[in-house]
Amino acid sequence: MNISTSEHVNAVNVPTQENVFMKDTNVIILAAGEGTRFKSDTPKVLHKISGKTIVERVIDTVINDFGETIVVVGYRSAEVKKAITESGKYKNIVFVEQKRQLGSGDAVKQAEKKLKNFNGNVIVISGDIPLLKKETIGKLLDIHEKEKAVCTVLTCEFENPENYGRIVRNGGIVKSIIEEKDANAEIKKIKEINTGIYVFSAQELFKALKKIKSDNAKGEYYLTDVVLVFSSQNKKIVACKTNSAEEIIGINNRYELSKAENILRKNILKNLMFSGVSISDPETTYIDETVVIEKDATILPSTIIKGKTKIESGCVIGPFSYIENSLVGRNVEIKASFVYGAEISKDVKIGPFSHIRPESKIGPKARIGNFSEIKKSSIGENTKVSHLSYIGDSQLGKDINIGAGTITCNYDGKLKHKTEIGDGSFIGSNTNFVAPVKIGKGVLVAAGSTITEDVPDKMLAIARERQIIKRRRK
Ligand code: UD1
Ligand code: CA
Repeated sequence: MNISTSEHVNAVNVPTQENVFMKDTNVIILAAGEGTRFKSDTPKVLHKISGKTIVERVIDTVINDFGETIVVVGYRSAEVKKAITESGKYKNIVFVEQKRQLGSGDAVKQAEKKLKNFNGNVIVISGDIPLLKKETIGKLLDIHEKEKAVCTVLTCEFENPENYGRIVRNGGIVKSIIEEKDANAEIKKIKEINTGIYVFSAQELFKALKKIKSDNAKGEYYLTDVVLVFSSQNKKIVACKTNSAEEIIGINNRYELSKAENILRKNILKNLMFSGVSISDPETTYIDETVVIEKDATILPSTIIKGKTKIESGCVIGPFSYIENSLVGRNVEIKASFVYGAEISKDVKIGPFSHIRPESKIGPKARIGNFSEIKKSSIGENTKVSHLSYIGDSQLGKDINIGAGTITCNYDGKLKHKTEIGDGSFIGSNTNFVAPVKIGKGVLVAAGSTITEDVPDKMLAIARERQIIKRRRK
């Protein structure tokens, strides 16, 4: 990303560097707004993008690199606070409450008490800018320090600047920010917009906030009005223009949410491809950033991989597969199947149309075939459940062949019961195991049996009506 300062008209590119001021700078994240344009029962900042809430993404951008992070909450604050704190991953977050949502300027005011004795700089970010990168904030802070400004605002040129605040300049110098709703036709033509990302000298900010009014189209206290306060006092305001429009996209409705999600998704896929993963159709592939995929894995079209999933080298996943919170060993094939909360060992083949449910462990070289469902079961090495089976609450040893249509009857209407099958057994097609039941090693079960009693090692079990043949009636 390139940022250029343009209090002056010429663009100046600033190189990336660790900023010595970072730890002495506090951050305010604005997350008190309702997000009416979302038309949702969930507060806007708690909507998710690729598995993480919007506000969590903003917090993650700043949390370890600066001083204290103050999050302003208000609308459904208990819910927002709970969502932020429940992961336990944030140690130095402070919440302040904005009781009534009177505007972004009023929201920032709520942090004043916490920063009463703080004379450094404060970064202010809207809680709805989830794709922002920390290098960008670092650079903005750097420029703020170098320019000795009271206010440094990150701006961007948009071909269609609609709905954003416009940067109004006079002879190149920033004078004010005017919101879309308050803009006349002339102002609306300005393409340089306010990204909602700023650095301020903290005490100057709080002084200026006391001067802003709510006599505008929305009847709100706009944070952006402090810019006019500063410029009328001849205090230094710097606008830094960024050329990465994708990064600063603000999410106000579900359409923008989907656009941001798409940008993030494409970036995740690009990074995976650069790290050695083949993705044949990025248009139809959805992978959370929490997913780890080793090199030389191949992801085929229409595949979704979510949560804490790891896919090891040499796997071929898809087409049409959904994998969530699962470990998938080397050289596994998963075709057109659902897998969640499962551990799949190396060289396993799954699908097409298999369903592997939580707490299942599939051993090396096992085969789970079409229309087979595995639930809370372990399947041993080289065991095959190739066609039309339900295996639930079961422990299957190695080298077992489960015939087509075999079912474990694991549920008696109240409780779940266990089926155990020993190594090397051969289960004929259309067998029912009425659990709890234990089948020994090397057992042969005749096709069509309903097994209700344990079978010792190496025995043959037949549990079906003997066939009779009668003369046909005319
Ligand atoms: C804001 C800016 C606009 C900028 C745009 C960039 C203002 C007045 N306008 O507009 O110049 O171009 O962001 O994305 O700031 N909030 C509160 N309490 C409130 C009101 C808002 O905490 O009472 C929070 C919201 O949760 C949100 C942020 O402030 O995170 C910005 O509010 P929002 O309504 O999204 O402002 P925009 O119309 O997008
Ligand atoms: Ca916004």
